Amino acid sequence: MANLTEQAPQKTGIGLDPIDVPAIAADFPLLRRAINGHRIVYLDSAASAQHPFSVIEAMDHYYGTSHANVHRGVYAVAEEADRLYEDARKAVGRLIGAPHPEREIIFTKNATESLNLVAYSWARANLVRNDAVLLTEMEHHANLVPWLMLAKERDLNLRYLSLDDAYRLNLSNLDRLMEGVRLASFTLMSNVLGTMPPAAVLVDAARRAGAVVVADGAQFVPHFPTDVASLGCDFLAFSGHKMLGPTGIGVLWGRQELLEEMPPFIGGGGMIRDVTLDGFLPTELPWKFEAGTPPIAEAVGLGAAVRYLEAVGMERIAEHDRALTSYALQSLSERFGRDIKIFGPDDPNDLSARGGVVSFALRDIHPHDLSQVLDQSGVCVRAGHHCAKPLMRRLGVSATARASFYLYNDESDVDALADALGEAAKLFS
Ligand code: ALA
Repeated sequence: MANLTEQAPQKTGIGLDPIDVPAIAADFPLLRRAINGHRIVYLDSAASAQHPFSVIEAMDHYYGTSHANVHRGVYAVAEEADRLYEDARKAVGRLIGAPHPEREIIFTKNATESLNLVAYSWARANLVRNDAVLLTEMEHHANLVPWLMLAKERDLNLRYLSLDDAYRLNLSNLDRLMEGVRLASFTLMSNVLGTMPPAAVLVDAARRAGAVVVADGAQFVPHFPTDVASLGCDFLAFSGHKMLGPTGIGVLWGRQELLEEMPPFIGGGGMIRDVTLDGFLPTELPWKFEAGTPPIAEAVGLGAAVRYLEAVGMERIAEHDRALTSYALQSLSERFGRDIKIFGPDDPNDLSARGGVVSFALRDIHPHDLSQVLDQSGVCVRAGHHCAKPLMRRLGVSATARASFYLYNDESDVDALADALGEAAKLFS
């Protein structure tokens, strides 16, 4: 059992980094802890990111001074809660360039629920037997299972873009695969490989086919400047907890004209204009899709997370991630040579089509064993199938170890990972 204690942050920072990592890391209370006398080296932000004080304080403040239900009360505290909740919606909309944030940003539970919302509402209303849906082989289960469920129910024709041996999408047969497709849904960045598909090419092909485009931005939005207009998609799904916000809140952005026509997903209070014993009329956007008491404190926390990210700057965060990923790819391959296998684009000089997750195998050491040994040195990485079992099969493995980076990581964290891997290599030799 690991021993968790308090310890001051010990970041070294790097001269050329576009952001001040030591100052940023000092904003994250969890990074002050130590495990077995080692500072925590948190390399699992792709699973869930840590929270700065400002996010924790915003939620604490809401619960302590402004808590009431939203869109139900006309007293001062309830109106304050309304304002905080709707301000969070505006902040999220601003981050992704939503043209009409007050109507197009839907708060959900997580990216998974956002994708399910599209599958249940838009797709159930629009797709019929034999309609084609295009996905990719590198999707997370969140962007697979809802379509598999619907395909079973509606007899849909699911098609997949495959991966090539360089861990990029094989686009040689894109136009043929896209023929007759009614909906294309793909990740903007693989949570396993880091691969970022050429979204513009996929969107163009989908448009030519007349397909609706869904983008899974769970890994992308927290790390890159995002603009739904230039992306050109119809729906964008992402989660709060991978972008410094709390768990329990996700986002679906959709084009207003599509959202207007879609039937509600979950029925209940808050999403109706009128109800009789014979039927109901749904209310307007976005509340039509927010049945029941929504995640109010979580929205407030997410709003604070967005403000934190904006203050650092998404372009600078992206640049930092690229520099750190390049450093990691280079130092791991220099240190371990043929003993390490990177699953994903591995050229440290070409970060144009990959993000800051590095999945790997060290010799034949099982990823779970590796992760446990790294934990002894305070290094937190994820091990497993990463909710992408079809991709694992394509890679010919049952699991990988995965390090993922964010704005509070720097080279000293990568060095700590490499040192801990060196210890593991010795232990299992
Ligand atoms: N989807 C998250 C991950 O990749 C949980 O770890």
